[in-house]
Amino acid sequence: MNIEIKNLTKIYPRGKKKALNNVDITIPQGIFGLIGRNGAGKTTLMRIVATVMDATDGEILFDGKELKANKDEFRSSLGYLPQSTKLMPRLNIVEFLDYVCIMKGMKDKIVRQQKIKWAIETVGLVGEEKKRLGNYSGGMLRRAGIAQALIGDPKVLIIDEPTTGLDPEERLYFLNLLSKIASERTIIFSTHITADIEHLCTNICVLEQGEVKYLGQKSAFIEKIAGKTWEITCTPADEEMLRREATVTSVAYVEGSPCVRYVADHPILPTAGNVKPTLEDAYIYTLGGVKR
Ligand SMILES: Nc1ncnc2c1ncn2[C@@H]1O[C@H](COP(=O)(O)OP(=O)(O)OP(=O)(O)O)[C@@H](O)[C@H]1O
Ligand SMILES: [Mg+2]
Repeated sequence: MNIEIKNLTKIYPRGKKKALNNVDITIPQGIFGLIGRNGAGKTTLMRIVATVMDATDGEILFDGKELKANKDEFRSSLGYLPQSTKLMPRLNIVEFLDYVCIMKGMKDKIVRQQKIKWAIETVGLVGEEKKRLGNYSGGMLRRAGIAQALIGDPKVLIIDEPTTGLDPEERLYFLNLLSKIASERTIIFSTHITADIEHLCTNICVLEQGEVKYLGQKSAFIEKIAGKTWEITCTPADEEMLRREATVTSVAYVEGSPCVRYVADHPILPTAGNVKPTLEDAYIYTLGGVKR
């Protein structure tokens, strides 16, 4: 499913500034990465696309059809995992998913049982059916959240910062799970960790203060700073100079000396090495460089 977001603006009733300002994004099928700092507007955008909140202005089209006029139809092909979900702690996964099935209008018990079994298998929670959700780990809860979003086999999945707080193993498991369920779906996935989208997404959007800073292919995003990314281990005085003259994308201290990566048209310091830019370099560059 193709999603077109046109001139979307959101002003919260008591918000000081626009949480989204004239946002235009086209999202093709596949995994789409929405990346941005805290407060960039990721959750606001996802809540509007997930139909749980209205925009102040603008429109959204699903395969060319206007969302506002077809909310019910779209909701039936949508799964949403909010950023902060409180799953019912006293229920086990089967009871919880049965509740979700009923809420989604599935009346036939046999059909519900089949859907639940499939969802539990898909997210790898077989053997954990008897445990209450209140006793699940963070990673298991996230998987239960995906199982909930998958009920009804939706064509669009909206998943808001699912990897925050997961240990590395659970995080990788979760990212693999997303790529496993991605075929023939549109998945909008938000994060502020570039590594999350490094391997998963072909298309990305960088949001900053409610505005689109980049929209397009991830490879083209990185390519923009190819040949212009440099690295040098230098003196603190040179680090200061580079912070003024270039856009610094990272500083690591090696035995007390700063190892600086930066973007500039010329090496500035003759001994700087030209390096292959990473997604992280491109992202930090787009946001104006590393802060202290
Ligand atoms: N209910 C609300 N009322 C007023 N302002 C809000 C409300 N929710 C969010 N905002 C503001 O809107 C802006 C965007 O917030 P949003 O939660 O969409 O960002 P985010 O990119 O999801 O951030 P995070 O990475 O921290 O989840 C922020 O300035 C935030 O303070
Ligand atoms: Mg958020």
